[in-house]
Amino acid sequence: MSSLVIRGLDTMDIGDIVGIDEKITKQYRPEVWEARCAYYLRRDPDAAVVCVADGTVVGFMLGEVRSGEFGLEEPTGWIEVLGVDPEHQGKAIGRQLADAMLDYFKRRGAKTVRTLVDEEMADIAGFFDSLGFQPSSLRPFVKTL
Ligand SMILES: CC(C)(COP(=O)(O)OP(=O)(O)OC[C@H]1O[C@@H](n2cnc3c(N)ncnc32)[C@H](O)[C@@H]1OP(=O)(O)O)[C@@H](O)C(=O)NCCC(=O)NCCS
Repeated sequence: MSSLVIRGLDTMDIGDIVGIDEKITKQYRPEVWEARCAYYLRRDPDAAVVCVADGTVVGFMLGEVRSGEFGLEEPTGWIEVLGVDPEHQGKAIGRQLADAMLDYFKRRGAKTVRTLVDEEMADIAGFFDSLGFQPSSLRPFVKTL
């Protein structure tokens, strides 16, 4: 297997991320990823990480440290967007991306890391379960507008 490098997100990575998203969702959405990557690079650039194999981005994870939201006063790390190229899944890339992001969250003083997973996305739930995440008492509420 080629060597894998975990590093920070760069704007030059957006094309590869668009490709990963297209493989996963079957949708080609360059404008979505331009905006999303720009958002995370602006908000918390060190909390945006990618995995590179042979010069190509094969996985990414985006998040940020936030304080004072949802009644959570202490700094909390949030993992918000992730994807691993289906051809490279099952090689611990997701785990390595999470390790890098959680290390950064700890350096920022976060004692907790949180994420939200739709009940229908059993694969992502299984992934976070394997990483030691547990169900939270923080409940999502939604209302159609
Ligand atoms: C979830 C996802 C990130 C996992 O990435 P990955 O690199 O294949 O995961 P890893 O190989 O690092 O696995 C880490 C752990 O999670 C577990 N895991 C991974 N995928 C799993 C799945 N589908 N179901 C259950 N457990 C899973 C592994 O078994 C492993 O556990 P272990 O170390 O105890 O054996 C990847 O499958 C993915 O990108 N899914 C689609 C995400 C998505 O829809 N994003 C939105 C659009 S881009």
